[in-house]
Amino acid sequence: MKPKNCLIFGASGQIGRNLIRGLTQKNLKVTAVTRNLHQKGYILKTQANPGYLDIVETNIFDFNKIDKLIKKADVCVNLVGILFEKGANTFTNIHEKFPSMISRLCQKHKLDKFIHLSALGIENAKDSKYAMSKLNGEMAVQKNFKESIILKPSIIYSVDDNFTTMIMGLLNMLPIFPLYYRGKTKFMPLHCIDICNLIIDLIEKDNPNKIIECIGPDELTFKQIIEKLLKLIEKKRFFVPMPLFLANIMATFFQILPNPLITRDQIKLLFYHNIPSGKYKTNIDIGKNFNRNFDKEVEKYCYMWKETGEYAKKK
Ligand SMILES: NC(=O)c1ccc[n+]([C@@H]2O[C@H](COP(=O)([O-])OP(=O)(O)OC[C@H]3O[C@@H](n4cnc5c(N)ncnc54)[C@H](OP(=O)(O)O)[C@@H]3O)[C@@H](O)[C@H]2O)c1
Repeated sequence: MKPKNCLIFGASGQIGRNLIRGLTQKNLKVTAVTRNLHQKGYILKTQANPGYLDIVETNIFDFNKIDKLIKKADVCVNLVGILFEKGANTFTNIHEKFPSMISRLCQKHKLDKFIHLSALGIENAKDSKYAMSKLNGEMAVQKNFKESIILKPSIIYSVDDNFTTMIMGLLNMLPIFPLYYRGKTKFMPLHCIDICNLIIDLIEKDNPNKIIECIGPDELTFKQIIEKLLKLIEKKRFFVPMPLFLANIMATFFQILPNPLITRDQIKLLFYHNIPSGKYKTNIDIGKNFNRNFDKEVEKYCYMWKETGEYAKKK
């Protein structure tokens, strides 16, 4: 039987890179789409054995090129996402118009499946543009192609993430650490490998659930996450509750930077718990327990932020 051709948009990101490795190890063929081959080609090409991976450079709104790519695919996975807007990269364009366009093309070319990554905890965040754009994207995808599966993960971590690695970097530099909403927002972090294994499973097997909320084993507040990271890198820091008006002023300045640390929209989103809504099945409900332990996994790479480095004895 001819191996399935899996077309991945946003393939060079944290999930994409892990997913390419997982899919090609199972002898599935991958076409990875990137905006910039010069920048991302070198990392993408090391993710699979020769013959299993094609890398294509395109603007994701080049309709004719995307149409041709989807025509050749059996399965399409959309991992394109942004945390802040810049120029034409608006939340509406990236989280609504793009998934709407590709889900319509999946319908046109009768693909087996379309797997779309959205986000957890966005239903109530009516004041966040990120959250509303992700929700609108979900609705468009559901309407356009009935073989779509929408995954709504809580925060995803791994050695390749922009979350634990960024926070440990900050904890290393800053003598104090700001807490938004007193650090009480709840998350259920999951490991990148777990969500990739779920995606591979959904590609290979039939599944009746069209929306799945994805969570790790522990419910942790933001403050608890920071405390765990501090313990892992063997540092002590003072927590400072950040008043909202000050947080917004700082975010207004950060937003000017090319890669802002935090934006006003992210501050709004941080108010809402990142836990299952109760409206949809979770990975646990469908028999997929993600049991990777946050502390044990982060311990594998946190040494980069420890004073003593990799070979120091545990305190
Ligand atoms: N990581 C998390 O904690 C988390 C949690 C909930 C939901 N999600 C969702 O899961 C998906 C994948 O997450 P991830 O962590 O793998 O993301 P990521 O590491 O930020 O990668 C996203 C990819 O999207 C592509 N991309 C970004 N802006 C683009 C643009 N303007 N046009 C075209 N492509 C663009 C980039 O590919 P190129 O630069 O190669 O084009 C990038 O590799 C996203 O939709 C995200 O919202 C992630």
